[in-house]
Amino acid sequence: MTTITRNSFGKISGREILRYTLSDDALSVSVMPYGASVQRIVYRGRDMILSLPEAELYPKFSAGCIGAVVGRYAGRIADGRFTLDGREYRLSRNQGGNHLHGGRHGFHTKRWSGGIAEDADGGVKFTLLSPDGDEGYPGNLRVSVTYRLTDGDCLAIAYEASCDRDTVLNLTNHCYFNPNGVDNSPPALRRHDESDNRDIEMTIFADRVVELDREIPTGRLLPVEGTAFDFRALRRLADGADASFRGYDHTLLFSPHAPEQPVASARGMKSGVRIDCFTDQPAVQLFTMGNPGSLFAFETQHLPDSPNHPDFPSTVLKAGEVFRSETRYRFTQE
Ligand code: GAL
Repeated sequence: MTTITRNSFGKISGREILRYTLSDDALSVSVMPYGASVQRIVYRGRDMILSLPEAELYPKFSAGCIGAVVGRYAGRIADGRFTLDGREYRLSRNQGGNHLHGGRHGFHTKRWSGGIAEDADGGVKFTLLSPDGDEGYPGNLRVSVTYRLTDGDCLAIAYEASCDRDTVLNLTNHCYFNPNGVDNSPPALRRHDESDNRDIEMTIFADRVVELDREIPTGRLLPVEGTAFDFRALRRLADGADASFRGYDHTLLFSPHAPEQPVASARGMKSGVRIDCFTDQPAVQLFTMGNPGSLFAFETQHLPDSPNHPDFPSTVLKAGEVFRSETRYRFTQE
């Protein structure tokens, strides 16, 4: 049985932010309308994600998209432009001449509406209207994200969206995980033991990685075989790192798989906690914040720059069609 409680999490721009906490026996997940973010996940007494202690800190660190929903387009769009239905659209260029994570005022910076869902399945549902022309994108897009706890200590994240014109869409969640536990206390109180954090084993069911040229896809998908991107057999996340390696910020394309199969799993070697990820999305962005891997973001999504690569799986959402997608993170302990 999930219970949902609500408390004040402080203020952003003078307006109160309510935080909703969904709990079952072993898992508790707090979410909030700013960025429709997952603010905290506690599993069997351990913090599983990077959290900031009060609402007003989130806008200050918005570039990190901590726990947030990212859109309209998660990842980069080269040069901030694409052509759809014969018309060129110019997006805001917020990173090195490219468009990243929906632009300067992407979905992760918005205050979404909603709260405890009224429908039978319960959960917490946030909604957002992204107006025609928002950061350069076509059409009025209505988007929602619903957080639920499902059987077996699973956090289910369900997205739904529709638009009144053809547009492109790539949504993800941007939690930074560590199954060994994350010390979210203020720096002065933190018990530092980086080696603990780096003892993470991972599998990713992906046999190709997106080739990049200065952060932008070249269009080629390379086999992971024999590279640091090969996570097909269980291995330590940090083992891919030599002295020159600046951490992961790469997109891995899943191999064909059944929906009930986890596409990726991470295990804390110190805690015995395992996080399994299930999704209907074709790829994952593995991001380790510039280090070999203590915290990692595991962003299920489409490939970056797909609107400029007709060979990549399509991210076009046709006018009037309903986009639905779900990603689940399941927590277990040995
Ligand atoms: C990742 C992205 C990184 C960085 C990060 C947020 O998804 O690939 O380059 O922008 O989000 O800080």
